[in-house]
Amino acid sequence: MYNSKITGLGYYVPDNVVTNDDLSKVMETSDAWIQERTGIKERRHVVRGEETTTSMGVKAAKIAIERAGIDKDEVDFIIFATLSPDYYFPGPGVLVQRDLGIKTVGALDVRNQCSGFVYGISVADQYVKSGMYKNVLVVGSELHSHGLDMTTRGRGVSVIFGDGAGAAIISREEDPKKGILSSHLHSEGQHAEELSLIAPGMGKRWVTDIIEENDPEDESYFPYMNGQFVFKNAVVRFSEVIMEGLQKNNLTATDIDLLVPHQANLRISQFVQKKFGLSNDQVFNNIMKYGNTTAASIPIALTEAWEQGKVKEGDLIVLAAFGSGFTWGSVIIRW
Ligand code: UT7
Repeated sequence: MYNSKITGLGYYVPDNVVTNDDLSKVMETSDAWIQERTGIKERRHVVRGEETTTSMGVKAAKIAIERAGIDKDEVDFIIFATLSPDYYFPGPGVLVQRDLGIKTVGALDVRNQCSGFVYGISVADQYVKSGMYKNVLVVGSELHSHGLDMTTRGRGVSVIFGDGAGAAIISREEDPKKGILSSHLHSEGQHAEELSLIAPGMGKRWVTDIIEENDPEDESYFPYMNGQFVFKNAVVRFSEVIMEGLQKNNLTATDIDLLVPHQANLRISQFVQKKFGLSNDQVFNNIMKYGNTTAASIPIALTEAWEQGKVKEGDLIVLAAFGSGFTWGSVIIRW
């Protein structure tokens, strides 16, 4: 048995900044409402045709590979988490293999939305710990902006989400006290539709049904979120799964050096911060700049925290996520 650790991190966000004031020009919303309810000041939207979920993921991956000090041909496996793939199929994992020119290693697509990166890290961790692979590339990337309802009807969702990508290399670590200590994953499918995008899908409505019906009132191909219900579940599940991870490792909240929560809503992060008695320095937030980038939010935040010197050798780093599914999870890391 080996241990595993994060040896390289990278992120990429498109240049195009969309402020709250920009949004209030196309829908009934305001900078004050968005900041008060979510903490978001601006987000990035790709310029249509210039980027895809895969191309952003590839850019983030290149940086992570370089920082890990490995060659792309030393990547033994690719894991790609997204809810906004380039194609219905195949998933972006194989597109990354192609576009990075990596040899014919396995590529796995993870569909766990906001928890996608945490699920991805957990899978990579097990492959590395078992000795099966030495270096696993985990990417979280999202292109939300093409698929949002940018009218007043969709404002409860569309002001929140942003585009971007983050990536990590998980590598073999010989020191058992260093690296990923444990990961903790959960799901509760009875709430699947509370945060979902129902169509197109083979279950209820395919593209041909949408075209045939040609209904201008149709909202089924836009993301739906029961905001308050999701919020209430998020604060409970975030807290539970962080506690679970700490207890599993005989740690307490006072041991946390940095919590990097999925950037769902600044109010959720603040609730969790208070619950665990953490200071502002112990919780990393960048939702103000990027909005909620779903599977990309943790790797973008972790990379920024690392670049700012907030992730140091020996630190206890906690990652935690909650989102559509519902799915949630945490990862406890001794850096
Ligand atoms: O990342 C995955 C997990 N996601 C989350 O954890 C998100 C959880 N939920 C949330 O973050 C919050 O519920 C939201 C930010 C989505 C919404 O905030 P809220 O405080 O729960 O607002 P609400 O949905 O209860 O809406 C309050 C009012 C409504 O108007 P009325 O009915 O009171 O007249 C909405 O129509 O705010 C209105 N509203 C808006 N007003 C201006 C909704 N969206 C907007 C908007 N601008 N963008």
